[in-house]
Amino acid sequence: MPFSLLYLGISATAYEETENKRKLLSLFCFFSLPHVGYLYSLGKLVELISTYQYSEKSEQAVLTPQFLHVITSQNLQCFTVRCSAAAARGEDPYIDTTVKACPPVTLDVCTLRMQLFIGPRAICHFKNNIILLTKADTEDITERRKHTRRMLSRKADSIKSRSNSESEPGWNLYIINTVSTIQLYREMVEYSRTYETVKTESCIHLLSEAHLLVRAAIMDPHFLKSDEKEDLLRAFRESCAFLGDCYSRFDTKDYHLALPYYRMSGLSITEVLKRLVSEGDEIQTYERGFIFYLTHSLNEDSNEELSKESGNKVLQIFYLTDPVQLPDILCSPSMRNICPLTAVKYLQKVEKMMPSVVLTLTKAFLALKMGNLTMYEHEMQSYKETTLACGFIGQPRLLQQRKEGIVMPTEFAVHLKEMQPGLLVAATVALHENSKIELEEADTFFKMLCNSSENTIPQLLVDFWEALLVVSSQEKILQELLLRVTSQYVWRISKKQLPETKPLKTTEDLINSCSHFGLIVPWVTSIMSVGCLSDKDYHEDISRLQSLLCSQSINIASALPVLEPLTEADSVGLTVRVLCNTRLGKYEEAIDQLLSRCPDVAVFYAQHELKGDSQALWWNKLLPELCKRTRLTGNNCPVLISSLKETLSMVAMELELRDFLSLLPEDGTAAFFLPHLLHCSQRKLLT
Ligand SMILES: *[C@@H]1O[C@H](CO)[C@@H](O)[C@H](O)[C@H]1NC(C)=O
Ligand SMILES: *[C@@H]1O[C@H](CO)[C@@H](O)[C@H](O)[C@H]1NC(C)=O
Repeated sequence: MPFSLLYLGISATAYEETENKRKLLSLFCFFSLPHVGYLYSLGKLVELISTYQYSEKSEQAVLTPQFLHVITSQNLQCFTVRCSAAAARGEDPYIDTTVKACPPVTLDVCTLRMQLFIGPRAICHFKNNIILLTKADTEDITERRKHTRRMLSRKADSIKSRSNSESEPGWNLYIINTVSTIQLYREMVEYSRTYETVKTESCIHLLSEAHLLVRAAIMDPHFLKSDEKEDLLRAFRESCAFLGDCYSRFDTKDYHLALPYYRMSGLSITEVLKRLVSEGDEIQTYERGFIFYLTHSLNEDSNEELSKESGNKVLQIFYLTDPVQLPDILCSPSMRNICPLTAVKYLQKVEKMMPSVVLTLTKAFLALKMGNLTMYEHEMQSYKETTLACGFIGQPRLLQQRKEGIVMPTEFAVHLKEMQPGLLVAATVALHENSKIELEEADTFFKMLCNSSENTIPQLLVDFWEALLVVSSQEKILQELLLRVTSQYVWRISKKQLPETKPLKTTEDLINSCSHFGLIVPWVTSIMSVGCLSDKDYHEDISRLQSLLCSQSINIASALPVLEPLTEADSVGLTVRVLCNTRLGKYEEAIDQLLSRCPDVAVFYAQHELKGDSQALWWNKLLPELCKRTRLTGNNCPVLISSLKETLSMVAMELELRDFLSLLPEDGTAAFFLPHLLHCSQRKLLT
């Protein structure tokens, strides 16, 4: 049979309990000519994954997930295959990332074993067995059989042959138990050790073959029920560790694979350090793969805390190989136990060559750790506050670290909160503007830092929002911040709460530094000046709120629900409601509110707000309202009378005599209106 066409499917049962749920992961097609075989994977694309060259003309082939067996006229050959490498990629999207790795599908295949047989004719496989049918020519059979037996003596125990008849000596049936995956894996690992010191790529190749064998066994549908399950999983992790070692130790272009293989091995950083760092060897050199692994593992917020000794070793390694990274490495939560004094010494040496703000901040961080405030202050004085604030962008972990998934403020942050809250807020703003912290994360950060409960908002967080309002340019963030500060001001005003710390910025500062806080309009100040004195204490929050509503930034419609808690009864509530109505263009309602609550301000309001399109409200709304109200109260309300007079003067200035006349109430006292009429007609005559 000079020609074979075979199919092989690999399914994903390994991780599912029932066999009927089996999902086909990959399908392979093997196509063999007499001297060469081609293995294709059939997916969205048909891809040639391996080519096999036979040493002599082939008779037949069988393909399993782990091996390709081929018979020729004289022997049985066994090759490795790449089916598990292809199937693993189909199954797990994380392969070929920094999380997981797998030897490449294109890895060269190799011949594992070649066994001599007399005249193989047919081959098939069943589970772990290869069944082989041979037929020898009658001549020289005795001699050749002896020869075969000798060649196979090493595997004699696993080969059973049964001659079906002594009288017809030509036919033989062999059942060959393939060596268990674990055993073969061990042999390959053992063999790889001979390459360890000399040929790096060969060592990696051999370990990759061993890894793929184990992977294929784990992907087998019977894996879950296998007696070797635990052994195979252990071998899998071990092979990952060996591959991690290779990529860390050897200078290879794929050095970055050290990271995913060590991750899959389940080894801790400490265990990896033990494998790679020799005791007391000061001049040991470290390859890129190892540094790559260490950098990534330490920069991830892993929960592993290195011992003081391991931590100091890591410092030394980075000092020797990549000193610029020392500040980052020192901020790793894994490095909590290092000796700060040793770390400072290394940093001082690095600083002489490459000074930086981050390095200075890291030294300050370590000084706090040692409780040396003299040194801390010395470091913090080396740069201006704005430079320091931006320095935190280079290493946010100086301020906050993740511990078991929760962001916690560092001692540095706690210290800044007490001593330099302005710097802490500026640094957090810088982090936010550089996408190093989200608004919600900042909430948690400040709440933890100020030890406030979930529902209360510490003043420092409000300081942060206000500072962010000054610099942020994203409309979505701005509106969110405006609502947050508004709701906080309203809450404090309505609950008569004072901020627990002095706000970093005054209303004045805010008005001067950004357009979201507007100049407070004079009629608001007027209303407030007649208001009751008890509001005095909350004056800052009140003026911030009014200032916000005086600017064009805040979206009034969305702020209305937030403003609800303010009672209408006091002057603050009144100013807020009138400001909102004004911003919404509801001047008539604003006038009504003022006339009933604070009539003396109504004209002042009109002078300020009723201009342009809304000027007609002077005669269409304000004048009739004033006439009506004066009539109702008689002469008892001098405020209304004087407002009416002012309004009449204004209207007389603006309108034609005839129009003005038509506005006058029929029951009006002529004496009262006469001067204005006179004024109106005189003005018209003059022009
Ligand atoms: C603090 O640090 C300074 C400068 O590094 C050093 O001179 C001083 O001895 C330290 N103080 C203490 C109490 O360790
Ligand atoms: C933080 O708050 C808790 C109770 O809310 C209190 O027991 C603790 O003493 C506070 N810690 C500090 C540092 O204020």
